[in-house]
Amino acid sequence: MTQVETYITEHENAFLEDLKGWLRIPSISALPEHTDDMQRAANYAVAQLQRIGFDKAGLIQTQGHPLVYAEWLKASGKSTVLIYGHYDVQPVDPVHLWDSPPFEPTIRDGNIYCRGACDDKGQTMLVFKALESLMSVNGTLPVNVRVLIEGEEEAGGESVEHYVRTSPEQLKCDAAFICDTHMPAKDIPALISGLRGIIYTEVEVQGAKRDLHSGSYGGVAPNPLHALAIIISRLKDADGHIHIPGLYDKLRKPTHVEKEFWHNDPLHINESLREEMGVSQLSGELEYPPLERISARPTFEVHGIIGGFVGEGTKTVIPAVAKAKISLRLPADLKSAEVFQLFERAVKEVAPPDVTVTVHNLHGGEGILVTPDSPPIHAAIEALKETYGKEPVFLREGGSIPIAALFSEILGAPVVLMGFSLPDDSPHSPNEKYSLGQFFKGVRTVASFLKKMGQ
Ligand code: BES
Ligand code: MN
Ligand code: MN
Repeated sequence: MTQVETYITEHENAFLEDLKGWLRIPSISALPEHTDDMQRAANYAVAQLQRIGFDKAGLIQTQGHPLVYAEWLKASGKSTVLIYGHYDVQPVDPVHLWDSPPFEPTIRDGNIYCRGACDDKGQTMLVFKALESLMSVNGTLPVNVRVLIEGEEEAGGESVEHYVRTSPEQLKCDAAFICDTHMPAKDIPALISGLRGIIYTEVEVQGAKRDLHSGSYGGVAPNPLHALAIIISRLKDADGHIHIPGLYDKLRKPTHVEKEFWHNDPLHINESLREEMGVSQLSGELEYPPLERISARPTFEVHGIIGGFVGEGTKTVIPAVAKAKISLRLPADLKSAEVFQLFERAVKEVAPPDVTVTVHNLHGGEGILVTPDSPPIHAAIEALKETYGKEPVFLREGGSIPIAALFSEILGAPVVLMGFSLPDDSPHSPNEKYSLGQFFKGVRTVASFLKKMGQ
């Protein structure tokens, strides 16, 4: 590994410049005004892959934002690793809370601040740099590699799902490698053993046919905002229990080992959670340990409520319509399509009779539980041991990466979820960052992982 090590050390600045160039492109998948930026960010990835020496590297156009696909299949007799990442990022609002402009990568205290720094351009770029280092030093890669980078992960990932379902031959592999998760601390390497699935919905409530004067009609008019408040508070109570009939039925009982880990909390994640959030107490289901609540219990969250008058000053109006964005996180045992039906039924059940409710399914994805003893997982363990000097922990993660379950289902390949983000990186929030130390260690670890996959 020494020559590759040296290459990495000597190219730190060049690696960073390449990352910065990618970060400057505001590739926000959710906002239509950034459609051109999506093309630019995708092309930037293609240029990186071409420079590394991928034979086939280009865009795959879709109904939405383009996919990036590349392959290098010259390691005959060796395994094939499919690498996945995403070049799209979350919106940046509220912009005034950023200490430096969201799309101007800025280095402070050994961190690079920018939207996408950790999620997921930084983590995708480090995989590119591992490939570049191996190829530059050896003139070849230790395994066959396919690369699939999408641009709609933060917006539901419809195009990539369609592609994986219709072109599985193109993605045939012995392992799928996803670098889009975090570790509990910079000296605690981790492999992710599970992710939650999700349903993301919009509940639309219609009252009167138009907005009404609250003096003339208050007392007889339906109020959709109030109806939403009733629906929301009936579906999740003050103790964090979700009242959707059937929701908990298929939830698998955790193993004894999991329970003990959550209960003992050897990594002191409970304390860090309070600190990271800046709160004095944790919310939610008191009878379950916090670690279980953030990774293995279903959740119900309201992300936003739209409706009525929200400007400066006052306006006495009873709104005709109101909408709420609501999502549920789903441990792997719960299937998104089934849960959507349960949710829709429960919403209609508790909705007041004076309003009309429509429930829209905006997107969904399945969770996954990873089998911990496949050859790729062993290679990942060994690689992390090499760079971090200790055995990685296996952790379930509360977030969702729907492609992981899809790879497992359609390609039948083991999935390795190895990421280098830290708990205070603030993905999706203002001042998103990535630790430069983690970035360079990530390059080394992934290079080592690929080498071990070829042995
Ligand atoms: N990288 C995250 C997933 C993640 C979140 C990993 C937290 C580790 C910790 C990914 O980009 C993400 O944000 N996924 C969305 C998926 C959704 C839009 C379908 C999520 O979890 O909200
Ligand atoms: Mn991500
Ligand atoms: Mn994300």
